[in-house]
Amino acid sequence: MSLQLHDHGRLRHLLTLEGLPREVLCGLLDRAQQLSGHAQDPTRVRELLAGTAVCTLFFEPSTRTRSSFQLAATRLGADVLAFDASTSSTSKGETAIDTLKNIEAMGVRGFVVRHQLDGAVAVLAEAADAGTALVNAGDGRSAHPTQGLLDMLTIRQAKGGDFAALKVVIVGDIRHSRVARSDLHALRTLGCVDIRACGPRSLLPADDTLQGCTVFDDLDAALDGVDVVMMLRLQRERMQEGLISSIDDYHRDYGLTVERLRRATPDAVVLHPGPMNRGVEIDDAVADGPQSLILRQVANGVAVRMAVLEALLA
Ligand code: CP
Repeated sequence: MSLQLHDHGRLRHLLTLEGLPREVLCGLLDRAQQLSGHAQDPTRVRELLAGTAVCTLFFEPSTRTRSSFQLAATRLGADVLAFDASTSSTSKGETAIDTLKNIEAMGVRGFVVRHQLDGAVAVLAEAADAGTALVNAGDGRSAHPTQGLLDMLTIRQAKGGDFAALKVVIVGDIRHSRVARSDLHALRTLGCVDIRACGPRSLLPADDTLQGCTVFDDLDAALDGVDVVMMLRLQRERMQEGLISSIDDYHRDYGLTVERLRRATPDAVVLHPGPMNRGVEIDDAVADGPQSLILRQVANGVAVRMAVLEALLA
């Protein structure tokens, strides 16, 4: 039995999209699509996790992921416990494992965990009881699997399910991005072959993250004829680390403007995981423009997280 899957292939925890079988990934997307529609009877949906308790255990800030998991669990009828690290006993030195085990002892069966360290959620999953399920809501720069799923659902709704026919570019700080890693894992699993990666050399990973991708440092060239543009947040602390020269230079070279977007196909769509730095990696006219699917991504986040919690806990 792997940490993530039971022997019979059912999901045990959701830690990463790397190596997640295509049928499991597509099953989650299909179920999220059903749950996002109006065909579902809300009363029946509310019974799916009735009597189950889910804790959002966030050691890093979040707006979209935490809120949408809380909404998703509530819509499935679960009791939701929102853990706030800043006002908890972690400030007195209690470890993350002790925190998990104590909340688990209260009868909580599902944990949605965000942590600043790579691999921290897998360590917590190892420590959890057999009947407890964990979802990685972002660990270090490693993985953000539900973001990857909601991005794939958003692309599939806009462009159809034939990922092999799509040209996709990921732009920005890929080196430090757990979103980019989860998107890359999912795109490959779904059969996408024309994946482009674009950013300043200092913000591209030196390991094998970009294996099979075409790497560009020129955004105009990278955008040429693409169907999907996936922008990433510039993590401003990278300026202090000397990895970029200035915000103005970054916007000049890697900011997505309406004029630049014309290099993509006329019906290209633009995604961004949020939070956005408006006027830095993306201009207002693009973020709020007709090709933007940014708020569609957020809406899909609730349905994807319902599908994940149901798969793990129902
Ligand atoms: N996309 C994303 O993870 O956003 P939050 O940090 O607000 O959860």
